[in-house]
Amino acid sequence: MGTRFVASAEAFVHSEYKQRVVQSTAEDTVYSADLFDIWWPDAPHRALRNRLVEEWEAAGRPPSGQRPGEGIAIGTITGYDGATIEIPRYASFMTTPAFKGDVEYAPLWAGESVGLVNDVRPAGEIVRDIVREAEEVRDSSGGDHLAEGVGFEPTDPLLEGQSLSRRLP
Ligand SMILES: Cc1cc2nc3c(=O)[nH]c(=O)nc-3n(C[C@H](O)[C@H](O)[C@H](O)COP(=O)(O)O)c2cc1C
Repeated sequence: MGTRFVASAEAFVHSEYKQRVVQSTAEDTVYSADLFDIWWPDAPHRALRNRLVEEWEAAGRPPSGQRPGEGIAIGTITGYDGATIEIPRYASFMTTPAFKGDVEYAPLWAGESVGLVNDVRPAGEIVRDIVREAEEVRDSSGGDHLAEGVGFEPTDPLLEGQSLSRRLP
């Protein structure tokens, strides 16, 4: 769900990043153990392909410390205390509207579900649609698979005499 809410109207996310999410498919993402590891090492992640990813791949995916442009600043971000922080390449941070620089070198976090996100919408609308879709799935299958989905057999004695919404945790 994280990716869906990046492209929400309320998300404090750089507008180009939101547009990239809307335009991208799962194939436009890359998984890496340590591409954006500065300030947050050992945190595997998935992000959208941009020029930084392409240059790293063209260089043969060299390890941390040997990547193209290590140490070069890609821009600045204004911290919550108002201080201006210089952002080096491969830094792990959130590309918000407070980032002033080139998003082609910034981390654009996104899951493989990005292909399902085709617009920027208010978060309330997103949640309402998710609930509506879940109810449609439940109603189209009589709901038993929902019980199974959370590990209950539809015939589980624990569920006897309980209405669906009462039966599910
Ligand atoms: C903007 C953004 C920030 C994320 N931050 C974290 C994080 O701090 N820690 C974490 O374990 N996963 C983080 N994730 C990964 C999500 O928890 C999730 O695994 C990933 O987005 C795939 O799910 P999705 O396709 O439903 O978005 C983040 C994802 C996004 C899009």
